[in-house]
Amino acid sequence: MRYPLIISNWKANGSKTMIIDFIHKLQNNLNNNYACNIIIAPPIIYLDVIKQYLINKDIILGAQNVDIHISGSFTGEISANMLKDMGVLYTIIGHYERRIHHKENNEDIIKKFDILKKNHITPILCIGENKEEKIQNKTKTVCIQQINNIINTLGIEILKNSVIAYEPIWAIGSTSSANPNEVQTLHNFIRSYIAQQNIEIAETIHLLYGGSVNTNNAYELLRQKDIDGLLIGKASLDPKNLSEIIKITQKTKTRN
Ligand code: PGA
Repeated sequence: MRYPLIISNWKANGSKTMIIDFIHKLQNNLNNNYACNIIIAPPIIYLDVIKQYLINKDIILGAQNVDIHISGSFTGEISANMLKDMGVLYTIIGHYERRIHHKENNEDIIKKFDILKKNHITPILCIGENKEEKIQNKTKTVCIQQINNIINTLGIEILKNSVIAYEPIWAIGSTSSANPNEVQTLHNFIRSYIAQQNIEIAETIHLLYGGSVNTNNAYELLRQKDIDGLLIGKASLDPKNLSEIIKITQKTKTRN
């Protein structure tokens, strides 16, 4: 049994006031038995504010990016060392918004994966196809290529205790998520692919889904055997929605 993960990706949203209000409301809305780990990935500048108000150990700090260097003359960058120093345990890498808007390439993503692992931070590797690739039935090929990008350079062992988030580009920030049954089929395929190289890693790796997750579609997604949690953007900016999704997770997946 894989312990479910619910990740809240705030992107470039929020303010000090909003965050304090959010954390209070989130913690008030929930009981102490979440049956999942909740990872809040705010804009880096607000990590410390969240930390000050956190009282529950099931809520964990996350980041949305990391630099490929550990220190030095890299103006504007944040290193894995610094994230670790701030108590960050998970970091999103390879998100399509960074690939598109910040021109991150496969080589950068490999370096980021590696530097996070070396600093004991769990990488959340985003993968997924664009609309055209979906129409051309290339989803599996594209996702496996993105995973192989890591495995071929860093070796299969690097995936131990890592997280892969399938985020079809066409579903991010749109009006509907991917079909839960199709996500299950893909996740099962990815797990089997990894199992061919290492069964233990395949059984323990977390495969998440992200892309227009909300309170209406969370249950159908979470009840799929190979969907081990959710990466949520817009809907998770509202503490009521996030609490609701966490409660759905509690009901759907059992604690082990
Ligand atoms: P969304 O974003 O839930 O707003 O679609 C998900 C993500 O980009 O991680």
